[in-house]
Amino acid sequence: MVAEQPARILVASNRGPVSYTRTEDGAGLAAKRGGGGLVSGLSAVGSGAEALWVCAALGDGDREAVRRTAGRLDPADTGGQRVRMLDIPKDVFTDAYNGIANSVLWFVHHMLYRTPFEPVFDQEFRRQWASYEAYNTAFADALAEEAAEEAAVLVQDYHLCLVPGLLRERRPDLRIGHFSHTPWAPADWFAMLPDDIAAQLLGGMLGADRVAFLTHRWATAFTESCRTALPGRCTVEPGDDDGLPVLRHSGTGSPADTPGGRHPRTTRVGVHGLGADADFLRERAHRPDVDERLATLRAQIGGADRKVIVRVDRTELSKNIVRGLLAYRHLLAERPEWHGRVVHVAFAYPSRQDLAVYREYTGEVQRIAAEINAAFATPDWQPVEMHVRDDFARSLAAYRLADVVLVNPIRDGMNLVAKEVPVVSEHGCALVLSREAGAAEDLGEHAVMVNPYDVTGTADALHEALVMPAAERTDRSKALATAATALPPARWFKDQLEALGG
Ligand code: G6P
Repeated sequence: MVAEQPARILVASNRGPVSYTRTEDGAGLAAKRGGGGLVSGLSAVGSGAEALWVCAALGDGDREAVRRTAGRLDPADTGGQRVRMLDIPKDVFTDAYNGIANSVLWFVHHMLYRTPFEPVFDQEFRRQWASYEAYNTAFADALAEEAAEEAAVLVQDYHLCLVPGLLRERRPDLRIGHFSHTPWAPADWFAMLPDDIAAQLLGGMLGADRVAFLTHRWATAFTESCRTALPGRCTVEPGDDDGLPVLRHSGTGSPADTPGGRHPRTTRVGVHGLGADADFLRERAHRPDVDERLATLRAQIGGADRKVIVRVDRTELSKNIVRGLLAYRHLLAERPEWHGRVVHVAFAYPSRQDLAVYREYTGEVQRIAAEINAAFATPDWQPVEMHVRDDFARSLAAYRLADVVLVNPIRDGMNLVAKEVPVVSEHGCALVLSREAGAAEDLGEHAVMVNPYDVTGTADALHEALVMPAAERTDRSKALATAATALPPARWFKDQLEALGG
């Protein structure tokens, strides 16, 4: 590895800002840049040599890119960003990512287990856990190597819970933050994890100077987990004026942290809501590729005065797409006045297809959409327009057309679709929003709120949103857009850095 200038701001996340696939002839590599809060946040504060993003190689294309660049990606592929991609052995990565992160931690925090069959923490789980430790260690080693004296390191998400503790052992001088983009499980759910694993996860995160969440609800749940899963090792004290607590604890178990056990360490808890990037969205939503897709969508929807209910999700179990479709079916069955007058535009983009449960879910979503069309369609009306191939320009076209947007997750850290659609919609949209989405903290007051498990309640909410008088819908949509854009990604990122004293 060629030594480079030490970085003053470091971001660590499983998925990086760029991914690679082999070109059709098999010889070349095509780079695809991702979007999202971290990409725009980091580019706003820390472009140039000062900042470095450390991420994992996810697929074979990424691994080949690492081989060709010795892990330091070509800035031409990354928009100028310095990125170090780690080639973690494939089996270790698979166990850590598909096994522990996506099948255990994601399921705990989103409350997705369906007892009595799940979860089972057996020897296979223990084997995968060892990979999770190895994968977190690879990140900690790379960050320790790259960081300048007293640099700020922002570690992201449930994939990397152990990194703050491991990094502090290696580099006590660093300022370390951990940020969770997911909900945090209620303490009773978190307590499903084996006690030693729960303590190791929390101890790892408490290696950070600050652990932060998207909403107060998740921050409070984390504090509760610390209180119950670390008895005698962690006390919760009132913090400064922001009302968030400070956790005093006996560190991560490393001697550097607990000199003689006399000086407990302190970790502050923070909240940083993330909003939509209004400038980017408004500009991107009016480019020719979006206009083109808008015309196609309009033709698919038919009749100019048909109402449009939009949803855009990854086919992710927590997004609750099946119950959303059942609610739409119930609406059509109970209120025939909507036949021919509404179309549900539902984009469900495949996600985590390495996991059988996700593949089955994707199939279920498509099956129910087809059933609704078979039951209700007429020669000139198709009630559900479903697409499964990921296409951001088409999503933006749907945002522009939306009269109603349905966001009904079982649980969600924030949910940016709920925040993006009101910014882009052309004539104002009504938002039907799950009370279990983090976005409810900012948007709840202006949305039609639903219990995501309640299918008939969701059908009623869709009806209420569809019949909302135009003036009320416009007013609410404006209020939603204002609340949704109050914390753009650049500010979200900057606030976290400042809170770390950087
Ligand atoms: C969502 C969550 C993030 C998470 C990401 C991982 O976007 O909000 O918290 O990091 O999923 O998705 P992936 O496709 O990388 O497994």
